[in-house]
Amino acid sequence: MKFFLDTANIDEIKRINDLGLVDGVTTNPSLVAKEGRDFEEVIKDIANTVSGPVSAEVVGLEYEEMLSEARQLAKWADNVVVKIPMTEAGLKAVNTLSQEGIKTNVTLIFSVAQGLLAAKAGATYISPFIGRIDDMGQDGLKLIAELREVLDTYGYDAEIIAASIRHIGHFEGAALAGAHIATVPGSLFPKLWGHVLTDKGIAGFLKDWQAYQEAK
Ligand code: E4P
Repeated sequence: MKFFLDTANIDEIKRINDLGLVDGVTTNPSLVAKEGRDFEEVIKDIANTVSGPVSAEVVGLEYEEMLSEARQLAKWADNVVVKIPMTEAGLKAVNTLSQEGIKTNVTLIFSVAQGLLAAKAGATYISPFIGRIDDMGQDGLKLIAELREVLDTYGYDAEIIAASIRHIGHFEGAALAGAHIATVPGSLFPKLWGHVLTDKGIAGFLKDWQAYQEAK
């Protein structure tokens, strides 16, 4: 399984990348806006920091707008993947871009039908938003498992990025459900390696070691 970071914050990316845990990065317009920096500068910084795919999203909603933005974004770095929203115009753009060899990540996927259509149109990645599905009282992890089953059954190449991950249960569940990739918010990542019993264990070992040293 691959791990992506779901952030546009370069410090968070550098911190986790130094641990050898980052296979790629996903951004969206909200995450980029939070940084208060120039879009192109942010994406180029990230693309220079990690060697894996870096998703940068178009904001135009019309086919021609998406295409021209996508072609521009793809020139910023070799590892840029263009994020396209799941709409009719988006599918058409994905189809054209895939024929041009530009990699795409179809975002805002909330059903098996949407995921299958995006894969058929030629998406490199599809991003089901599990946290937002759970917010609706439905089961985001079930969608991951179903998407994996249909992609495998029909032999599509698209990889599933489990997105909108909110907690450790989503991360572990996405792995168990067969997501190819989990994209994890920078603030959640440190919680994946921490555990209260690990901290307690270290404290206990150190206390016993100190007592042993003092008794010598
Ligand atoms: C994925 O590519 C999106 O950037 C992200 O996971 C959205 O997550 P949210 O629902 O927490 O905004």
